[in-house]
Amino acid sequence: MTRRVERLPVVTLDGPSGTGKGTLGLRLAAQLGWHFLDSGALYRVVGLLAKRRGVDLNDGAALSRLAATLPVEFQTGASDTEIVVEGAVVTAAVRDEAAGEAASQVAAWPAVRTALVQRQHAFRRPPGLIADGRDMGTVIFPDAELKIFLTASPEIRAERRYKQLREKGFDVNLAQLLEDIRNRDERDFRRAVAPLKPAPDAEILDTTQLGIAEVEARVLRLMRTRGLA
Ligand code: C5P
Repeated sequence: MTRRVERLPVVTLDGPSGTGKGTLGLRLAAQLGWHFLDSGALYRVVGLLAKRRGVDLNDGAALSRLAATLPVEFQTGASDTEIVVEGAVVTAAVRDEAAGEAASQVAAWPAVRTALVQRQHAFRRPPGLIADGRDMGTVIFPDAELKIFLTASPEIRAERRYKQLREKGFDVNLAQLLEDIRNRDERDFRRAVAPLKPAPDAEILDTTQLGIAEVEARVLRLMRTRGLA
């Protein structure tokens, strides 16, 4: 039974923030009727709850206990996924920059990453999974049928984040976003465990000059050549 479940198709989307992974992943999942894993949201919820409960972001053991019993649910609707923690919708708080920064700090703890592995594997359900993150193709789903690694210049990524957050009603500053992106990149690329890097068998897609529709079309082409779509 487990073997059968493990052979379910997975397409991994890895890369730094602002490369369009989330938007692309949701579009692909909706089009194909597949499940979608937003692994960053798990790290964001750990960061958010740690702050709310007064857990020190330098206390790896306490953070991993929190991650192991994370009371989070994803409720997918027609246009977005709501993130629910202990009955309360926390989607906006999870998406803001402070949660992103806290996520990047808690994600550097190996025990936190280990505590979230099984929960991520559980998203692999029929008919297939689109998994968005940093280590989807390297650590969590190394046997994925297709691995995509998205890149884009830090400037364009900051601009995209800016537009996205403004549309959601957040008051943000472009220069500050660019600095946050550079800091987070630095931490994500350099950390000892599961650093952000393409799997050896990943397809690298630079999205600096590409719109989301073009990126989606390219990924769908790659899926077709592998018999996945
Ligand atoms: O993708 P998102 O911006 O939501 O991720 C927030 C942070 O969570 C990232 O900067 C990264 O440090 C961490 N993360 C991770 N591994 C993942 C997904 C996210 O370390 N698979």
